[in-house]
Amino acid sequence: MNKTVFDCLLSFSPLLTEREMLRIPVAVSSGLRCLTKNQRQYATTRKIVVQKPIVEIDGDEMTRVIFNSIKEKLIFPFVDLQRDYFDCSLTNRNKTENQVSKDAALAICKHNVGIKCSTITPEKEHIEEYKLTNLWPSPNGMLRNALNGTQFRESVICKNVRKYVPGWRDPIIMARHTFGDQYGGTNISVPGGNKVSINLKSSGDEKNIEVFNYSGKGVAMLTFNTEESIRAFAKSCFRMALDRNYPLFFASKNTLLKEYDKLFNETFQAVFDDEYKKQFESRGLTFKIRLIDDMAAQAMKSKGGFVWALKSYDGDVLSDVVGQGFGSMGLMIHSIISHDGKTVLTEPAHGTVTRHFRDYQKGKKTFTNPISSIFAWSRGLKHRALLDEHEELMNFTKSLEYSTIKTVENGWFTRDLAPCIKGESFTESDYLTTKAFIDAVSAHLIQNR
Ligand SMILES: NC(=O)c1ccc[n+]([C@@H]2O[C@H](COP(=O)([O-])OP(=O)(O)OC[C@H]3O[C@@H](n4cnc5c(N)ncnc54)[C@H](O)[C@@H]3O)[C@@H](O)[C@H]2O)c1
Repeated sequence: MNKTVFDCLLSFSPLLTEREMLRIPVAVSSGLRCLTKNQRQYATTRKIVVQKPIVEIDGDEMTRVIFNSIKEKLIFPFVDLQRDYFDCSLTNRNKTENQVSKDAALAICKHNVGIKCSTITPEKEHIEEYKLTNLWPSPNGMLRNALNGTQFRESVICKNVRKYVPGWRDPIIMARHTFGDQYGGTNISVPGGNKVSINLKSSGDEKNIEVFNYSGKGVAMLTFNTEESIRAFAKSCFRMALDRNYPLFFASKNTLLKEYDKLFNETFQAVFDDEYKKQFESRGLTFKIRLIDDMAAQAMKSKGGFVWALKSYDGDVLSDVVGQGFGSMGLMIHSIISHDGKTVLTEPAHGTVTRHFRDYQKGKKTFTNPISSIFAWSRGLKHRALLDEHEELMNFTKSLEYSTIKTVENGWFTRDLAPCIKGESFTESDYLTTKAFIDAVSAHLIQNR
């Protein structure tokens, strides 16, 4: 191999294996051209200054390792960033008796931008490993409640990644309501011989509605929602549809839940008619209410390119179906946008990828896809740029996303994408480690700035 190319590769990634380095010159010839040392220094010394802070919420296991690499290779060399940093790893939640999660939630509300790493929701087996004094909850619930917003998820689209649903060409943006329903409800186990009823009380009035009379053991659940929360959810969905110039569908099972889901349908329709109809019509966009089973079938046959609003449980399940349908969960972006649109929290759409972290701890190579984490950074910084009207930062986030997508499209990707790009007969030489992939994105970014 040409010595200067080797030097260059060593300088931007001293830990690349020789085999990985031998493969990179192919990437160089297909778009990832190496830069001279002077060019690199020029690219890394002119940093974009960002005056207002973002809140960084650090987390656990493999995603924490990936976040460190992203900051070191893709953010800090280019952006002079003020960070209000909170370490929400399980170790630090335990040390601070979870005060760190409360502080992080307050800081996001203050600074309006949060970028969060995935965090462990501890179970019994974590008590020994992390010497826990309590099963401290994941910070997610606290952060989501503080933001009081809507969860949006969509997949990054790379032309060469074959989708499990081949007809999907454009993103499907999944909007999930995050208040009440099963997540805020009460579920109980009921011994045989008991009756369950709903007791409705108002001042001076009481109504008892019998639900079920149990002859044997059973279970019961009561879920709730409020018009106020549904209204706020609807508004953020209409805003997202306008922002992306996509039609909006709201899907529920109102034929079954005649009162519960009717409130969602009626609220969405009323918000649309009162506030968004004219804007939608002027753009040629549509809003439709669909039965969830019809919508799921329609979505499979569609080309994508719409916002799909769902109640919390439906959104939880179907966003994973859609994420996998686009190729890999590692390509999915997740953000929570407050109902007034001012505050945004971004995070990878997957967990801490414990299985890969065990390999990392043993010193083995890891192949976790960092794209969802890279986009958590780019989308968080994009919101900072939007709030501050910071054009240079906005352009940087676009370049970072472009370089990430182009790196995959130029043939450089992690193992999870290999079956979608190479077919089932791929070999180890077809994919990169997490680290080598981030280095390849960095090289593309430097070249294209
Ligand atoms: N938002 C969050 O903070 C969040 C979300 C989900 C899970 N978690 C936590 O993460 C931990 C691990 O959970 P889990 O193993 O069920 O889910 P996970 O998403 O971390 O991983 C499940 C599996 O999906 C695959 N996978 C996920 N992300 C990938 C990526 N980027 N690249 C390649 N493959 C990928 C891997 O095969 C992995 O074993 C748990 O403690 C859980 O509580 C946190």
